[in-house]
Amino acid sequence: MKPWHYVAGELHIEQVPVADLAIRYGTPLYVYSAHAITARWRELDQALSGQRHLICYAVKANSNLSVLRLLTDLGSGFDVVSMGELDRVIAAGGRPDRTVFSGVGKSTAELRYALKTGVHCIDVESIAELTRLGEIAAQLGQAAPVALRVNPDVDAATHPYISTGLRDNKFGIPLAQAEPLLRELQSDPRFALKGIACHIGSQITDLQPLRDALTSLLDLADRLGAQGIGLEQIDIGGGIGIRYREETPPSLTDYGRMLSDQFAGRPETLVLEPGRALVGEAGVLLTRVEYLKTQSARRFAIVDAAMNDLLRPALYQAHHDILPARARTGEADLWDIVGPVCESGDFLGLARRLALQAGDLLAVSDVGAYGFVMASNYNSRPRPAEVLVSGAQHRLVRRRESLEALYAAEIDPEEGDRR
Ligand code: LLP
Repeated sequence: MKPWHYVAGELHIEQVPVADLAIRYGTPLYVYSAHAITARWRELDQALSGQRHLICYAVKANSNLSVLRLLTDLGSGFDVVSMGELDRVIAAGGRPDRTVFSGVGKSTAELRYALKTGVHCIDVESIAELTRLGEIAAQLGQAAPVALRVNPDVDAATHPYISTGLRDNKFGIPLAQAEPLLRELQSDPRFALKGIACHIGSQITDLQPLRDALTSLLDLADRLGAQGIGLEQIDIGGGIGIRYREETPPSLTDYGRMLSDQFAGRPETLVLEPGRALVGEAGVLLTRVEYLKTQSARRFAIVDAAMNDLLRPALYQAHHDILPARARTGEADLWDIVGPVCESGDFLGLARRLALQAGDLLAVSDVGAYGFVMASNYNSRPRPAEVLVSGAQHRLVRRRESLEALYAAEIDPEEGDRR
């Protein structure tokens, strides 16, 4: 669900003209629609209403505290992959006992923190991690709630950088190893076995690989059940894609129905870890055209947002639609929309048909997931501000970074000389 539309030629997010936001808060600016996030979360929750389930929003997709608070208020749980993300969930009022801790390389400090804060479950990804967690649990005198992340060896047919369920990926424990390990876990007093988990990749636009992964998990659960080992939960991970361009991802209703159908009559709780599907379409990045420039056969629109603000085009050659804040009637040309960073890979979109003038405002769409969270300070550029829109209301949910913040953690060179 796209949160934007044109009213009399002016681009709006919900009821707010984006031009007003750009003037009020400056550019580049991330803008999120509370309504779009709410609608997506509710659609998924509704589709699963016949089934005991826990939606654990993947915090890595967009970790702004106000986004986390909105999801907390809807009743969401969370999926975190670091101490930083767990801390954010707590700061936003989210419940650790509805939070799963995933990730392939949790440190000792992170495992301790997870146990101390009382997370719902730790998704363990290797025998080495299990050994470490067992030691920590014994020290704390507390049984660690665990799920085993298995690798179902399913091809998610997505970008190789974001495919995670194949045998050769670094993620999870091979299915064949999982069964004996789960038997051991069941009888080890240092652990409270919760269940099994997987996550096969991201931006998946076909239900089949997800169905295959769930089948694989359910078969494993049934084999364990036959040996008297009952699981409390089965976690299918995240991964459902959105429409950036011509993709035709399943609706969340269809996704939820597929899961419910396969799960019908089972005793376990279904856990999900969606990120992009809940917040991806809810965000735009507003950026203003600084200069227009024609060089040999190409036309460049140099805008004030760059690869440090939105990395996906440079990193994955990802497509994001770029919309004018006010539709112009003039002749449209093909423009490369590029940023001020000193790299040729610094583009937001190539060969976009637009009628442009310097000073125009543009909106890069579908950046609610993996947008701000992947921003950096490369070229010593302060990261953008973030705004949350709800109906006709808007509010700043992260201030634009100041220049001083860029080096606030660095040691004053004069002080260093004195040491
Ligand atoms: N659970 C686990 C264990 C994950 O690793 C991920 C994402 C998710 C859930 C959420 O997946 P989603 O529903 O958002 O697909 N930066 C990339 C995406 C990386 C996703 C990594 N893992 C991008 O910009 O496309």
